[in-house]
Amino acid sequence: MEDFKGYLITFEGIDGSGKSVQAQRLYNNLKKQGLDPLLIREPGGTEVSEKIRDILLLSERGSVSPVTELMLYEAARAELVSRIIFPALKDGRVVISDRFTDSTVAYQGFGRGLDIDLIEQINFFVCRQIKPHLTIILDITLEESLRRRNSISKKEDRIEKETSDFFSAVITGYKSIADSDTNRAVLFDGSLPVDKLEQMIFERVKQTISL
Ligand code: TMP
Repeated sequence: MEDFKGYLITFEGIDGSGKSVQAQRLYNNLKKQGLDPLLIREPGGTEVSEKIRDILLLSERGSVSPVTELMLYEAARAELVSRIIFPALKDGRVVISDRFTDSTVAYQGFGRGLDIDLIEQINFFVCRQIKPHLTIILDITLEESLRRRNSISKKEDRIEKETSDFFSAVITGYKSIADSDTNRAVLFDGSLPVDKLEQMIFERVKQTISL
């Protein structure tokens, strides 16, 4: 990351964990400090990556094989990294990504059971020297995730239609990432009140970016 003046902060967690709300709030807080942050989401963020997102999320359950799924997430990431993230980091911006490489380890690795070493190698190949400076993982229980998802009227996407066993494995995956990469990945209790979490996350980010 030596060539890059900026910072990459990623948000992770299972569906319904509240990470998109917190990513947006962090963006607003950094703006208030006079910075010029960039907020992106995965999969998505470029024309091609948004098309891949539609294939991944709008297709019928069972219509995308696990290996195809992995490759499509990585293809969407490759576009986003080279076209958006690299230039923004070179410009010294703080890039906030709603999901990144850990989602692939948690969902395709722990959830689908694909080879985690291989996923890490592909992540490395796609991202080259880019690694998040800080990853905020919002941890909630499976029950809380289901409760929150049922309380909103949004139609479930292909991944959200997965089984409880799948999501339990994803939760385990995130805990394992937090345990194995303690300098980078921090687990926050996603059941805390939104404003309190926002404050805690902002304090942690300020340390990372020396604000
Ligand atoms: P979201 O934008 O609502 O979080 O939806 C993205 C979905 O895609 C979510 O269910 C997690 C899933 N996903 C993966 O399975 N692997 C990945 O690498 C990424 C980035 C997302």
